[in-house]
Amino acid sequence: MISLKDLSKSYTKVKDKVDAVKKLSLEVEKGELFGFLGPNGAGKTTTIKMMIGLLNPDQGHIVINGIDAVKNRLASKKIIGFVPEEPLLYDKMRGGDFLSFIADVYEVDSSKRRKITELAELFEIREKLGDSISSYSHGMRQKTAIIAALLHDPEVLILDEPIIGLDPKAAFNLKDQLKELCAKGKTIFFSTHVMEVAEKLCHRVGIINKGELLAAAPFEELKAKSGHLGASLEELFLELTNEIS
Ligand SMILES: Nc1ncnc2c1ncn2[C@@H]1O[C@H](COP(=O)(O)OP(=O)(O)O)[C@@H](O)[C@H]1O
Ligand SMILES: [Mg+2]
Repeated sequence: MISLKDLSKSYTKVKDKVDAVKKLSLEVEKGELFGFLGPNGAGKTTTIKMMIGLLNPDQGHIVINGIDAVKNRLASKKIIGFVPEEPLLYDKMRGGDFLSFIADVYEVDSSKRRKITELAELFEIREKLGDSISSYSHGMRQKTAIIAALLHDPEVLILDEPIIGLDPKAAFNLKDQLKELCAKGKTIFFSTHVMEVAEKLCHRVGIINKGELLAAAPFEELKAKSGHLGASLEELFLELTNEIS
């Protein structure tokens, strides 16, 4: 469902060149919940921005459900739902109006509009839909961005650090939703630096550091490979990223 092949991206700053993503290749199957794990600055957001068509790769290919996501951005965007690291919403709009607007952009059928209220209820912001987004807390913005990404029933959901800023109940509801969506055959790719989330939730994890994918496998397999069966993902992660020896 998601195929990244030899993906590379550098940023040029005044003097230096930063190789943010280096020849990254990975595959995510339909119905899989894939956790993209790495420390700050590892290249997670850069990879995601290329996947959703916000950044052009310097090299490599991105195929989403058979669609070349670099050459055919509009078609790939139609089947992707995206939750950014920082929820950028229209502050002057009311939450409910914003969500209706997003539903319009994605041409969501009017018979399916009740999804807005259903999801708002699930994430407990239904009574806030009439308020201006400028009055929303970070967590409420995050919830609004998540609802917006789900409205068009995307085949592939891509989330950049979605758990940050959510209260425990909302985090629980989100994890539950993600599991449910996968059970329905949707594919989910999310970045995180929170180990427990990846360990408990994901079918497979990919570990990225300094722009390179160090491993991508089911957690149990990573554990078996590293040889210590009692190892937590945190220990494996630190070992792979050379933070401890
Ligand atoms: N717009 C940018 N301009 C220059 N360097 C950037 C830019 N965005 C990210 N970087 C650099 O690219 C590397 C990867 O960043 P990023 O993809 O944001 O990592 P992560 O999301 O894993 O924290 C870091 O070294 C970061 O400083
Ligand atoms: Mg990031």
